[in-house]
Parts: sequence; structure tokens; C-alpha cells
Amino acid sequence: MRYRSFGRNGWRVGEVGYGMWGMGGWTGSDDVQSRLSLEAAVARGVNFFDTAQSYGDGHSELLLGRLMAAHSDKRLYTATKVPPRNREWPSRQGVPLAEVFSRDYVRRCVDISCANLGVETIGLLQLHVWEDDWLVDGDLQRTVAELRKEGSIRAFGLSLNRWQPWNGVKAVQSGLVDSVQVVYNIFDQSPEDELFPACREHGVAVIARAPLDEGSLTGALTLDSKWPADDWRNGYFAPANLAESVKRVDGLRPLVPAGTTMAQMALRFILSNPDVSVVIPGMRRIENVEMNATAAEMGPLPPDLLAELRKHRWDRPSIRSR
Ligand SMILES: NC(=O)c1ccc[n+]([C@@H]2O[C@H](COP(=O)([O-])OP(=O)(O)OC[C@H]3O[C@@H](n4cnc5c(N)ncnc54)[C@H](OP(=O)(O)O)[C@@H]3O)[C@@H](O)[C@H]2O)c1
Repeated sequence: MRYRSFGRNGWRVGEVGYGMWGMGGWTGSDDVQSRLSLEAAVARGVNFFDTAQSYGDGHSELLLGRLMAAHSDKRLYTATKVPPRNREWPSRQGVPLAEVFSRDYVRRCVDISCANLGVETIGLLQLHVWEDDWLVDGDLQRTVAELRKEGSIRAFGLSLNRWQPWNGVKAVQSGLVDSVQVVYNIFDQSPEDELFPACREHGVAVIARAPLDEGSLTGALTLDSKWPADDWRNGYFAPANLAESVKRVDGLRPLVPAGTTMAQMALRFILSNPDVSVVIPGMRRIENVEMNATAAEMGPLPPDLLAELRKHRWDRPSIRSR
């Protein structure tokens, strides 16, 4: 594993971290397989794990808690998220902070996550949605300062709404956050415009999420791909998006370097950017853990391939649509 600095925190995190949403409850998750995959990741030097209280209503946090207990001799970084109290993903502009992340509510969630993870201190506490307008009232700043002071959290960050990387720049500039988690991949390159320069300037760590665009950038989807009725991917890959994704992925196939996979190219694209601190692919199978750890070891992509991949930027319609 290769390691990078996690912003100004001084943590050394493996370039490939672990996305733990899928194992919390996507269809086809199997706890035994998930545990073996987590163990394989630790063996490959992965030390950053991203979960959330809402992933399987605590299930993903419990899996991480078990892993931490089994490796109490190692420095593993845990990142979890406070769900919005109104359960609205993404958040909506104009809804007051008090309805989504009031002090008492955030504190309650910290207690629940600590219990699930079996820890007294959460490594990185993130808010699971974000509006830059929430900076104004000062309540959140006080809550975060309190949690830091009493040792309930080591670091604080935000998980930005999908395709709204600009809606977090003010938070980065404010000094409140140690990290931002943002969708960044071969298609979604817009965080490079404003967010990454701000993070660079302020020493804020960047967590690149959905690096495989929820699966399209593995190259495995087809026009006939379907998921069971209650799987959220039916919504994300609604027919229009699925068709466009498959077409765009087909355009990437000739670019995959010989002897590697599209997923590995996608991860190396992200890691070729030094503004990224860690990429967190969702993984539930050992093969994927091994492939993704190997991708990090392969290092950055050659400049000519990077230049070619930049042309595949895809700005989705919801960008700045509000
Ligand atoms: N709002 C938020 O805060 C938010 C939203 C989305 C995601 N996230 C975080 O970001 C993480 C990553 O995003 P994601 O899991 O949604 O999507 P993703 O990482 O873009 O894609 C995950 C999919 O790719 C597959 N995969 C992984 N490595 C592969 C490989 N080498 N070859 C082929 N297939 C591979 C996984 O399969 P298997 O699962 O079967 O192994 C899974 O189906 C999440 O787990 C979560 O921690 C946060």
C-alpha cells in the first residue's frame, strides 16, 4: 500500500480506503464475505474505513467495530456519518440547520455510533448531507468544538451532496472541517474546479467517494442490468442514466491499459490527482479488495492517458441546478 497525508491532521492513510455502504445492506451482501474482505483489506495495508450510521441502520458500523476490536494493535482510522434528522438525502436549501443537525441530535448520534463501533472516540465524524448556508448560525461550530474538546471525536468532516462539490467550498474556507467527502471519478471531475483548490489552500483532506460511479466504471453494466425491486441502484441507474452510462463506459474500454481492469484504471485516475487523500471504493468481495489494493500499488496513470480520460468528464444536469 502507498500512503498519503490526510490533510492537516497528520494521519497517514492508505491511498485505497474502504467504502462500507454496500455491506450495510445492498442486495447480495453477505456478512461472512464482508468480514473476510475487511480482513483481506487490513492485510493489504488498508487503514481507512468509511461507514455511516444509516448504512443498514448501524449494521455497517457494527461490522467495523468487530474489525477494530480484532486489530486493536493497529492504527485503523474510522470515519462515520451522522444521518440527517429529517432523513432527507440530499439536503434542501432553506431547511434550517436545527431541523437537520441540532446539537442534541448530533450528540445522540455520536453516542450511538460510539456504541456500534465499540469506541470512546470517533476518528472522523462527518455530516451525511451539507448546505454551506448552515455555517451562518454558529450552532454547529459550537457543537463540533464541544465534541473535539471532550474527546468524542478526533476530526470533523462533511459528506457533500452528490454533484454539488461547490456546496462545501465555504465550509472548507471557514476552517471548521478537516475533510470533505465528494463524488469524484472519471465522469465526475467537477470537484477539481473550486473544491480541490480550496482544500489544497486550507489543508483539508479529500475523500473521493463513488469512485466507480456506483458500478458503471467497473465496465460490468449492460443495458439489461437490473437489481431487485428494493435496491436503490434501480433509481440511480434509471433507464436514461443506465443507457448513457453504458454508452460512455464503452467509450472508455479502448483506453484500459493492458493487463489491468477498468475499475483499476478508474481508481488510478483518481489517485493520479495529488489533491486526493484517499479513495474509498465500495467492496464486499476479496477479489475486489485485492484488485483495488493492487491498483494503488501501480501508481499514477501516464500523462497521455490522463489527458485522454479528462475528455470523458460528464457534468450531470443537477450541477448548480438549484
Ligand atoms: N452520501 C455519502 O456520504 C455517500 C454516498 C455514496 C457513497 N459513499 C461512500 O463511498 C463508498 C464508495 O461508493 P459506493 O460503494 O457507493 O460505489 P462505488 O465504490 O463507486 O462502486 C461500488 C461497486 O463497485 C464494485 N467494485 C468494487 N471494486 C471493484 C473491482 N475492482 N472490480 C469490479 N467491481 C468492483 C462493488 O462490488 P462489490 O460490492 O460486490 O464488491 C460495488 O458493486 C461507499 O461504500 C460509502 O462508504 C458515501
